[in-house]
Amino acid sequence: MQICLVGGAVRDQLLGIQSQDRDWVVVGATEKEMIVQGFRPVGRDFPVFIHPNTGEEYALARTERKSGHGYAGFTFFASPDVSLEEDLARRDLTINAMAQLPSGEIIDPFSGQKDLQDKVLRHVSSAFSEDPLRVLRVARFAAQFHHLGFQVATDTMSLMREISASGELGFLSAERVAQEFEKALCSQHPLVFLDILKQCNALDCLFSEFSRLDLEPLSPSMLRLKILNPAPELSFALLCQAISELQEVNTASLIQDLCLRIKMPNRYRDLARQFVRFYSFMSDFAQLSPQQKLTIIKELRLLKEPNTLPELISLYLSRDPQMTHEDFESLQRLLQRIRALSPQSFMTKGLTGAELGKAIEAAQLDICALDTKYT
Ligand code: CTP
Repeated sequence: MQICLVGGAVRDQLLGIQSQDRDWVVVGATEKEMIVQGFRPVGRDFPVFIHPNTGEEYALARTERKSGHGYAGFTFFASPDVSLEEDLARRDLTINAMAQLPSGEIIDPFSGQKDLQDKVLRHVSSAFSEDPLRVLRVARFAAQFHHLGFQVATDTMSLMREISASGELGFLSAERVAQEFEKALCSQHPLVFLDILKQCNALDCLFSEFSRLDLEPLSPSMLRLKILNPAPELSFALLCQAISELQEVNTASLIQDLCLRIKMPNRYRDLARQFVRFYSFMSDFAQLSPQQKLTIIKELRLLKEPNTLPELISLYLSRDPQMTHEDFESLQRLLQRIRALSPQSFMTKGLTGAELGKAIEAAQLDICALDTKYT
């Protein structure tokens, strides 16, 4: 049996970047031999094993053939006879179709190293089209490696357009779409992900909400945001706020529907909705009545979740370069004063239940009124 490092770990090592995880391919072995050696079988769809000590994934070399729709529609063939080259040939991109032997030697039958040098995302073979998830993967790699100058090869883009036209993208599971989207949002250039999907006509099917977005003018905001706070939830919130500026859009329900459809974690939905609201009132905040101020502060949960405010401020600053941190100081002071109110001091006056709630709210309104007076 021969064990080689394969896929993304080899690519990242050659690029000189830290890999998230390491995948291994095992050539010339049977499932039984793996189990005897202590590997734990985990693959539901194909023979993948977990190393007993490292917890890393080891897959038997295999070939694949499309047998149905979507990412999971494959029959695979794994046997000790499947060669390393055959296993590499079923992979998506040349830069992902390299292996490293224990000696350190790189096995590179599809010129992945040259494409790394030339900074090209190129499919290995026409079998690329058998897995529609690869459209999203290429867009995601384009976003992740944009700062290195990577481009999608023209032929690969043509195949991606064919996949879009075939309707196969509609069969992808929500989880897979969300997973690639989240990886793109984590990258320095999430807009490149959407742009590539737009170029290959996949945006309407996968993220129709973003179809009408003009991506180029958004780019400076996204770059500023990535410096202030690169977290993926913020990048998503920025995109959603940009959508809210398109007329005739009910952004709150659009965000709700999008997050439900692609099963984005709730924290994405919540921050996006909070920011859309925050952005719409912030420029006029000082002019609002005490009641309006308090209502908005509560609606945004700024009293209960104090960590949200710095995120909203970063988002605002990235959207409006005229604003500075000082512009938010009075709001921060107001929140500090309201938070400093101690329910205990009201309780010692014998107040409980609804009465207690009313008294606290009245005190909060007084603080907002003072704020209105002095700003
Ligand atoms: N692969 C593929 N087609 C897919 C998914 C994966 O050909 N739809 C192959 C590629 O060779 C890929 C390897 O399986 O490099 C491992 O896949 P995965 O761990 O999902 O991605 P990586 O390329 O390792 O990238 P990253 O870990 O950065 O997401």
